[in-house]
Amino acid sequence: MFTDTWYCAARAVELSTQPLARVICNEPIVFFRAAKSGDYVALEDRCPHRQAPLSMGRVVGDEIMCVYHGWMVASDGRCTHVPHQDSVSPNAAVRSYPTSERWGLVWVWIGDPAKADEGTIPEMPWLVSDDHSTILSCFHAKANYQLMADNLLDVSHADFLHAGSFGSQAGQKGETDDVKQRMDVTTQNDCVRSVRILENVALGPMASAWGGFTKPITRTTRQRWEPPNTINIELRMENDENCITFNHDHVMTPETATTCHYFLGFTRDFNLESGYPTDEDMRREQEGVVLNEDIPMVEAQQLNKIRFGDPVDIPGQADKFLIAVHKRIAELNR
Ligand code: FES
Ligand SMILES: [Fe+2]
Repeated sequence: MFTDTWYCAARAVELSTQPLARVICNEPIVFFRAAKSGDYVALEDRCPHRQAPLSMGRVVGDEIMCVYHGWMVASDGRCTHVPHQDSVSPNAAVRSYPTSERWGLVWVWIGDPAKADEGTIPEMPWLVSDDHSTILSCFHAKANYQLMADNLLDVSHADFLHAGSFGSQAGQKGETDDVKQRMDVTTQNDCVRSVRILENVALGPMASAWGGFTKPITRTTRQRWEPPNTINIELRMENDENCITFNHDHVMTPETATTCHYFLGFTRDFNLESGYPTDEDMRREQEGVVLNEDIPMVEAQQLNKIRFGDPVDIPGQADKFLIAVHKRIAELNR
């Protein structure tokens, strides 16, 4: 787990003057939006008095009041008021974390605050582009964040796990496999990129309906991973009937060693004005796929990894990107 890095903590719309408790990298944190300044505040979720969770408290102005005995804690973590006392112990303080809002997401810096550079927040400009329609979703998975990330680094699952939506189960044993696969993976600086092109591939019902496709297509998947675990995927589907593109962004944040938060931005450049799909269609379909297909699979993998004592994976050729990312993570952790 990297510490000197920005982790996505919440969608901006989740944060208000109502405190939100969320564990990030094993650290219980209370998030709220300061009522006067509008700043996003992140504090250790404990009161310096007697450890009541501040998330049970109430935001008053730019501070939070602990509901147990009314102590006030400011956005820098210092206690500023104790009822019926003229002074406050200088030791009455909790840790505060740097935060930043970007791309409709709120990020928190878990490591050394002096190193918190907002310029290192991952670039995802299409999430706020006028030419794209975006839905932002947040999920919780009972799986290590890397296992959830591996699900996105591995696009070959789309044809099988998502056969009811995107995929076609192309390449099944006993069937003619006339799909041509090309895949290139490159590592540059900290980022790993992959391009996978499948020609003459059939589509599942959901993807066929998005583009009005009736015939097989060429599906090009461009992926980019950057540490600690942001994966941008550009998915293009085309044939002589249509050409449609999605940019989807996946950001995994560790909660504990075996649980994570998963943020998904799903962005499209087609059918923006009318018709199918609308944003609500997209949200229902995408969240359905993740909740009913990806997360149950990843949680089952997590259980098996525990049961079988973390056995060694045997990679296939389509796992090239996943392997390159794991190698880069190992290098960065050295
Ligand atoms: S525990 Fe918070 S005010 Fe006492
Ligand atoms: Fe998936």
